[in-house]
Formats: sequence, structure tokens, C-alpha cells
Amino acid sequence: MNFELTEEQLTVQKAARDFAQTELLPGVIERDTEQKFPTEQIKKMGELGFMGMMTDHTYNGGGMDTISYVLAMEEISKIDASASVCMSVNNSLVCWGLERFGTEEQKEKYLKKLTTAEYIGAFCLSEPEAGSDATSQHTTAEDKGDHYLLNGTKNWITNGKSASVYLVIAQTHPEKRHKGINALIVERGMPGFVVGKKEDKMGIRGSDTHSLMFTDVKVPKANRIGDEGFGFTFAMTTLNGGRIGIASQALGIAAGAYELALKYAKERKAFGKHLSEHQAIQFKLADMATKINAARLLIWQAAFLKDQKKDFVKAAAMAKLFASQIAQEVTTEAVQIHGGYGYVKEFHVERLMRDAKITQIYEGTTEIQKMVISREILK
Ligand code: CAA
Repeated sequence: MNFELTEEQLTVQKAARDFAQTELLPGVIERDTEQKFPTEQIKKMGELGFMGMMTDHTYNGGGMDTISYVLAMEEISKIDASASVCMSVNNSLVCWGLERFGTEEQKEKYLKKLTTAEYIGAFCLSEPEAGSDATSQHTTAEDKGDHYLLNGTKNWITNGKSASVYLVIAQTHPEKRHKGINALIVERGMPGFVVGKKEDKMGIRGSDTHSLMFTDVKVPKANRIGDEGFGFTFAMTTLNGGRIGIASQALGIAAGAYELALKYAKERKAFGKHLSEHQAIQFKLADMATKINAARLLIWQAAFLKDQKKDFVKAAAMAKLFASQIAQEVTTEAVQIHGGYGYVKEFHVERLMRDAKITQIYEGTTEIQKMVISREILK
């Protein structure tokens, strides 16, 4: 792997950095406090091509590689992890899943609008009783000939209210366990589909996380993704790529906190000299920078393998496991370096510390990543 970024990748990175500074930074504290979804900002991200970066031009996507995508995710996440989770779900779960496994009709109807953020997508796997244990789906999709009848509840759904297109995983043949599961495209407004309660979260508070209720929702067979019974494999395969996105989000949160801490350490004086002249602070900065670089290399490796069409399952899980872990450590140290200022909203690092935690939970907890890695090692 070549560690030199191409001209195109550097341009994408700069565009994402500039966008984050000019469009996301103003108002990020207010959106966090008020739990306000970044509607206008996501619309602009769609116009700039950040919402369907890896999708082919045919479907209005950017036709870019995964490295470009992780670079952009890192830059956006440094400033606003609520916007970046929307971006990650839309890019790596919804657009990627539809482009890879959807029919031409589904791509025409949905994908072309998802890449431009005319539509926002949601990925609906988790349930009140099936978070990590994803094979135990209680939501049912009863086969009624030309359609499925969808019943059940999904929980903790990112983009829950702002989405127009929902990829819903549901059980059709319980006796076949995970081989009887289907993935269905459900549209906002289909009769019987209700968006439920909004979660009041610790972090990523600008992102809208909702429960969803389905009561006798008629979903045409044409909206099934892949063959009958392909739903679980669809979810697992899609999540493998999704984990590269969330790893990049964790990296961005860590790098954002580190950059703020570095700047603060150079400006703030204590005991007659700048914080950065104290060895206690220098050692913290050295540890933070090393962890960030290690996480970045794991992510680039996973992205590189994906782009080379090689097996990236273990690399993606390792990247997410490690990046989400160091995001905890680095953001906590960034708050520590800021002292009392770090504990108040104005200095951003307390938000980044709160935002970091979710990266160890969604798209597979830390424990799930270890299951995935050990399965790959032992198989
Ligand atoms: N990639 C591809 N296929 C996989 C896979 C992977 N990483 N992991 C499992 N599978 C396949 C297996 O090969 C097997 O298929 P076959 O029977 O055809 O061989 C099938 O799935 C079942 O495998 P297991 O018997 O090992 O299943 P399990 O129940 O023991 O464990 C699991 C599976 C890996 C723990 C899985 O349930 C899992 O990944 N859980 C976590 C789910 C998750 O990440 N949820 C996040 C919700 S989405 C989200 O957060 C989005 C958001 O809003 C931000």
C-alpha cells in the first residue's frame, strides 16, 4: 500500500475539512444542546457529493474509492459526529448495500436520490430484544404472494425521523433462522409505518435516533433486496463495510480532540510556561498522536483491502475495535489537558468525549468486533 495520498484524495480531504470548518462548526454546540438534526448541512453535503461518495456516477454518486471516503469521514467527524453518523449510514450501509445488491429498478428509484441527499437512508436491524444478537429478529415479514406484511419494532435507528428510505431486516421463515430473514426497502409514509420516540442521548445528540413501529405494512416483493432469505447475509456484509465508516468517525473524534488539545497546550500558560513545555503534557500529546496514527493506519488498511476487492472483514473489525477504544482515551486526555475549560461546552472537547462512546456501541459493540476478529482468525 502506498501511503502517499493522490491529488484527488487530497482534494477530497481538503474539501471535507473546509466544509466542516465553514458549515458544520458554527452551530454545532447549539445543535448538540437542542438535539437538532443538521438538516441544512446534510442537504449541502448531498450537493457536494459527500452522501454517496463511493457510489458509481450512473447513480449520481462520486465514484470514489474507500480511502477518499474515510478521509472525508475523519474530517467531518472532527467537527460534528452527528452529521458524520448520518453520512456514514447513508454512504456505507444504505447506498453501498443498494448498489451492491439492489435491482436496477431499486437503484433508479431510491439510490439516485440517496446519493444526492434528496432522500436520507436508514438501516434497521436492531430491535428491543435483538441488538448484538442479530439473528434473533422478532420483526416479521409474512409472505403474502406479491407482498410482505411487515410487523414489529426497531430500536435505536439512526436517521430515524429524517430518513425517507429504510432498509428493514425482518424474519419470514423462523424455522430457517438466519436463512429465513429478508431485507426490505420501506418508504416513509407507507400505511402502518410509524416513527416512534426520539432517544435523549449522551452523545451525537444532533443525530435523530428513533424507534420505528410497523403494523401490517404492505411491502411489495419488488422491494426485497436480493433473493428470498438473503436478508441476514445482506446485513452482515453491509455492516462489514459500515465498520470502516464508524472506525473513521471514531478516528475523527479523537483527532479533533487532539488538535484542540494541542492548540490549547501551546497557548495556555501555567507555572510560568506554556502547557506544551511541561513534560507531563508533552507525554500525553505523544501518546495521543501515536494512538491516532495507529488507528488511521488500521483504517487505511481496511479501506485499501476493500478497494482491492480483497477480504477486509477482519481488518474492518480491528480498525473499529481499536479506533473506538483510542477515541475514548484520546478525548478523555483532551479534556484533562484543558482542565476546567475542558469540562464546559464552549471548548468542544467535552462533546467529543461524549460522542466518542457510541463508536464502541453501534455497528457492533467492542465485544462483537472481538467475536468477528476471532472468528476470522480461527476459521
Ligand atoms: N460477514 C459476513 N457474514 C457473516 C458475518 C460477517 N461479519 N458474521 C456472521 N456471518 C454469517 C455467517 O457466515 C453465518 O452464515 P452461514 O450460516 O451462511 O455460514 C451467519 O452469518 C450466522 O453466523 P453465526 O452463526 O456466527 O451468527 P452468530 O449469531 O453467532 O453471530 C454476529 C453473528 C457476528 C454476532 C452478528 O449477529 C453481528 O454482527 N451482530 C452485531 C450486529 C450489529 O452490528 N448491529 C448494529 C446495528 S446497525 C447500526 O448500528 C447502524 C446505525 O444506526 C449506526
